[in-house]
Amino acid sequence: MCGIVGYLGNKNTTKILLEGLKELEYRGYDSAGLALLNGEDIEVYKALGKLENLREKTKNILNNSFELGIGHTRWATHGKPTELNAHPHSGQYSYIVHNGIIENYKEIKDSLLLQGHKFISQTDTEVIVHLFENINNKINDPKQAFKDTISKLKGAFSILLVTKADPNKIYFFKNGSPLIVAKGNEKQEFLFASSDAPLIGLAQNAIYLEDGVGGVVSKEELEIFSDNYIWSILPTSKQFAQKNGHRFFMEKEIYEQGDVVSDCMLGRVKDNEINFDEIDSSILDGINEIKICACGTSYHASMASAYLFERLSKIRCNVEIASEFRYKEPLLTNDTLFIVVSQSGETADTLEALKMAKNAGLKTLVVCNVNNSSMTRVANNTILTRAGIEKGVASTKAFSTQTVVLWMLSLYFAKIKSSLSKELLQKEIQALSQVPKVLVVNNKLHEKTRRLSKRYLHGHGFFFIGRDVFYPLALEGALKLKEISYLHAEGYPSGEMKHGPIALADPELFTIALMPKNSLYEKVKSNVEELSARDSTICSISPLHFELSDDFIKTNDRDHYMLEFFEMLVVLQLLSMEISIRLGNDVDMPRNLAKSVTVE
Ligand code: G6P
Repeated sequence: MCGIVGYLGNKNTTKILLEGLKELEYRGYDSAGLALLNGEDIEVYKALGKLENLREKTKNILNNSFELGIGHTRWATHGKPTELNAHPHSGQYSYIVHNGIIENYKEIKDSLLLQGHKFISQTDTEVIVHLFENINNKINDPKQAFKDTISKLKGAFSILLVTKADPNKIYFFKNGSPLIVAKGNEKQEFLFASSDAPLIGLAQNAIYLEDGVGGVVSKEELEIFSDNYIWSILPTSKQFAQKNGHRFFMEKEIYEQGDVVSDCMLGRVKDNEINFDEIDSSILDGINEIKICACGTSYHASMASAYLFERLSKIRCNVEIASEFRYKEPLLTNDTLFIVVSQSGETADTLEALKMAKNAGLKTLVVCNVNNSSMTRVANNTILTRAGIEKGVASTKAFSTQTVVLWMLSLYFAKIKSSLSKELLQKEIQALSQVPKVLVVNNKLHEKTRRLSKRYLHGHGFFFIGRDVFYPLALEGALKLKEISYLHAEGYPSGEMKHGPIALADPELFTIALMPKNSLYEKVKSNVEELSARDSTICSISPLHFELSDDFIKTNDRDHYMLEFFEMLVVLQLLSMEISIRLGNDVDMPRNLAKSVTVE
């Protein structure tokens, strides 16, 4: 995923920027670039592939006297990985690096084209710098032109902009994607980065910018165009920095879901359409059925998607646990599209299931987080989830990105098969576009789960219940809890209670009830009432108040059940984590579990 660095000061700018980009390397990228300035002298370097290539190109300028510079690692979204598409992007006299997506870039680009601007890349980023120059050419006031530019952009964008029209300054703005500005340890020194790892050792004080906050910095002064900021102390250890100030990788990964899901949707949801450059629409030729195989959390994401493939794409879909599938002597016919879902791409059972399907001549597709993993090498088609490295053994952001990819895929198939009306398809895409915002962790909600967690440290078990897609979500909630708290938890379809599980109901049985407003609310409510009547302790998660709840976690009133799904997902992840923390467990490395299971 993309990374940003910036430097203004008296040290070796090129070296600091390259080292900063190195710290962001783990996020994955396919090209990198720098813009270096000294007064009105600007040099730009870009290279495809690894940072080493960029280092090679800049090696003759390592003893430079550039006062400031901006740098970027790019993960291709709008437009292929090419040098032309690599950042920084430029106009006539200004340069920009950008993380995020400009949703209205097409309108802006069309209007700028009519006014004579020429574009050389396929990126959405290039329009920002042209828009800035277009405005500045008229008003000759770079600061105002920057503010006016920002006010015209829609979407997620964290940017650094430098311009010969106001040399020796870096303009910056944060919206959606993360951006930090730090005061360097030396006098007259400022640094920027999209996560704090590049800043460690070089700075102590930093502002983790809030959405909608920007400013401009020169050696003499840092000006922020808002009062909405606070200075924080940067961590001193890189290990801590990698956690972005969070207590555990799991917490960091829960918090970054909004960002990684934005990354996951980049270039795939645009202009109110779903597109996957990596697959061809002929993938559905001759296909009457989808079969999905996966394990663990990936299995739950797959289960949720089966509702969507049937409901939206109108294609029969069933999901199997890979270890079961392998030995059941499955009937494999080539009218089936065989999908495997895996964070690591290495899980032995899933990999073997994939090989079986491929050997039987089926079309295969892997939804995976790790490029060049075994599964991506075997499958005919790959869709990457772009979640970035997931370190917590209890999977969080892998699940949200997998579910988003599969939802997008069901809509892409719906488009190919014309199985949804235009209006319904638009409604779905509208809802989908809101997922990144829904996944942003709400502090109050986190605090609520922290306070509630103290009541759930014992008991003889937990039932997580829900219906429709909230049933796989209940399974995932129960899995998260058992993985890291070691408490017994099961997920059930809530309608199934009366067929057995309700026999366990008593005050020491905790029911976590998923009660979305937009999906079978009344039905779930009756199921929860039955449990409450048998004295089970009820914790309901819902936008609607439910009087029989012992504990109530109020979610926001949303107009699509999938948005409720993602908000509840965050609640379940946080609740398990807070319970695990109170129990004193190792949240990131729970006992007996491994991140990637490469044995049968
Ligand atoms: C292990 C991990 C789980 C994961 C499962 C499947 O059990 O601990 O978090 O869901 O493997 O892994 P995959 O990489 O195939 O998604």
